[in-house]
Amino acid sequence: MTPPEAPCVLYFDDEAAPALRLAQAAGLPAQAIERHRFPDGELKLRLPVNETTGRLPRHAVLLRSLHQPNEKLVELLLAARTARQLGVQHLTLVAPYLAYMRQDIAFHPGEAVSQQVVGRFLAGLFDAVITVDPHLHRIDRLEQAIPVQQTVVLSGAEPLADLIAQRRTNALLVGPDGESAQWIAQAAARHGFDHAVCTKVRHGDRHVAIELPALDALGRAVVLLDDMASTGRTLALAARLLLQAGAASVDVAVTHALFAGDALQVLHDAGVGEVWSTDCIPHPSNAVAMAGPLASALQSVLRT
Ligand code: R5P
Repeated sequence: MTPPEAPCVLYFDDEAAPALRLAQAAGLPAQAIERHRFPDGELKLRLPVNETTGRLPRHAVLLRSLHQPNEKLVELLLAARTARQLGVQHLTLVAPYLAYMRQDIAFHPGEAVSQQVVGRFLAGLFDAVITVDPHLHRIDRLEQAIPVQQTVVLSGAEPLADLIAQRRTNALLVGPDGESAQWIAQAAARHGFDHAVCTKVRHGDRHVAIELPALDALGRAVVLLDDMASTGRTLALAARLLLQAGAASVDVAVTHALFAGDALQVLHDAGVGEVWSTDCIPHPSNAVAMAGPLASALQSVLRT
C-alpha cells in the first residue's frame, strides 16, 4: 500500500523564511507557489504539484500573513480554488496576522462590515484557520467571524510577557485602550505585573484622545502592550501621557508590527525606548518567534 503523502506547507516567495521555519518546526515539507505578474497587474499562480501524479497531497497548509492584505486575498482565492482542483481535501490557512478584523460593525450607515465579509470569504476557501491575536472586540470566538470547521487562536501576549519580564524589572504593564484589556490580563497573570488600561476615543486614522487610568507611574518602567501598532498614534500618545505622569521609561510590545509609514519614528519622538514585537509580521522590531506555537497548533489541526 502506498503511504499517504505528508501534508505540505505552501507559501509565496516573499514569505519563504517564515514558511520554512513553520515547516521545520512542524516536521512537514514546504513548497513555493510560483507567481507571475502580468504587465497589466493580473496574477498567474502555479502550484507545486507532484511531478508524477500532477496532484497535491490530500492535506495542505497555506501560510500567508495578511498584512498589506488586498492583493493577498486574490492570491488566496486563486491558490485555494486551484488546490481543491488538484486533489486537496483539507486546506488549512495559517495567517499569523488576520486582516480586516477591526471593522466589525457599521459605524455609519452604508459601511461595509469588513470582518464579516472577509471572514466569510476565507471560510469559503479553507477548512481550518490558525492565527494569532485576531482583533476580536465585539465577538468572543474567531468562528463567529470566520465560520470554518476548525479555528485555533494563539496569543502573543504570554511570550511577550516573558520577554518583558527578562528585559525590565518590576514592569508596569499598560494597555492603551479598552480593547487591549484582554491581552493585558493574560500577560499580567503570567508574571504578576502591576497593570492598568487607558481609555481611548478615536477621532480619525491618526487622531485619538487617551485618558490614563488611576495609576502611579512615578519612577516606573512602563511597558505599553497592545495587539498591534498601525500608525503608532495610539501608543505614542499613551507614552507621552505616561512620561508626563513621571514614568522612568516607556517601552512598547505588540503582537502585530504593522507600523505604517512613519509609525516607528512617531513612537520614538514620543519618548518610547525599545519596541518589541512577535514575528507574525516580519519587522526589525521582531523579538518573539511564533513558529513553535504555530507548528503545534498545525499538528493538532492535522491530527483531527
Ligand atoms: C485598535 O484598537 C488596536 O488595538 C490598536 O490600538 C490600533 O489599531 C492602533 O492603531 P494606531 O497605531 O493607528 O493608533
